[in-house]
Amino acid sequence: MNILIFLGPPGSGKGTQAKKLAEELKLPHIALGDILREEVRAESEIGQRAKELMNAGKLVPDELTIELTRLRITKADCGSGFILDGFPRSWKQAEALEQMLKENKWEVSRVIYFRIPEEEVVERLADRRSCKDCGAVYHLKFNPPRLEGKCDLCGGELYQRADDNEKTIRHRFEVYEQQTRPLIEHYVKANKLVELDASKPIDAVYKDLLKVTATAVVP
Ligand code: AP5
Repeated sequence: MNILIFLGPPGSGKGTQAKKLAEELKLPHIALGDILREEVRAESEIGQRAKELMNAGKLVPDELTIELTRLRITKADCGSGFILDGFPRSWKQAEALEQMLKENKWEVSRVIYFRIPEEEVVERLADRRSCKDCGAVYHLKFNPPRLEGKCDLCGGELYQRADDNEKTIRHRFEVYEQQTRPLIEHYVKANKLVELDASKPIDAVYKDLLKVTATAVVP
């Protein structure tokens, strides 16, 4: 089983790198933010509970994210592993994940920590654009689409996420510092954590990512 956890502040590039690595390793990329946005779009009960919290940059209640993760990682396509992007983000989530893995006799292969300062995150997220249809992610300066406002992959319309404004970005960073950052120490102690300089350009980060995961994943 190849189980990778991507941990880091909002806008550190977790999603961008997880998509690339998931394709390379043929593992499902499980992004809790994407799953929640799908629930919001579908106006499900979970979506209705999550919407305001997400728009305000707060964490969605643990019991919801834990249940969504449990449902997702027990699907058939996770049989040889998965990449978890944006989960766990709190102690309660980390404990629940450990329990879920134990029940299945699975173990985390590596936790990748994306290190980046707050100011760079603000710049990145303010100019992020995402595809309404396939979820592909762009940056107006660092990774622009070929045609303005259109997705290179599916031609879908690009939009700016409601939580990608400066005030909410700074709040999300604060939430990360308080609730998620303490998990780093936990995974260091468990000898699972490797750190990446996420400030480098996309291709350079990916090169480093391949290096640090090479010894952890089973081909
Ligand atoms: P989520 O969607 O997971 O947001 P996030 O963690 O804030 O992370 P982002 O998606 O903003 O950033 P990223 O690190 O993936 O960066 P990206 O690759 O896009 O969660 C949203 C909300 O859902 C949360 O606030 C919360 O409410 C809720 N939620 C989710 N999970 C939860 C959980 N477990 N518990 C409770 N609530 C939860 O890159 C960002 C931009 O930078 C892009 O434009 C990209 O093109 C560009 N870029 C990427 N890498 C580089 C690079 N190396 N150089 C230059 N530009 C780059």
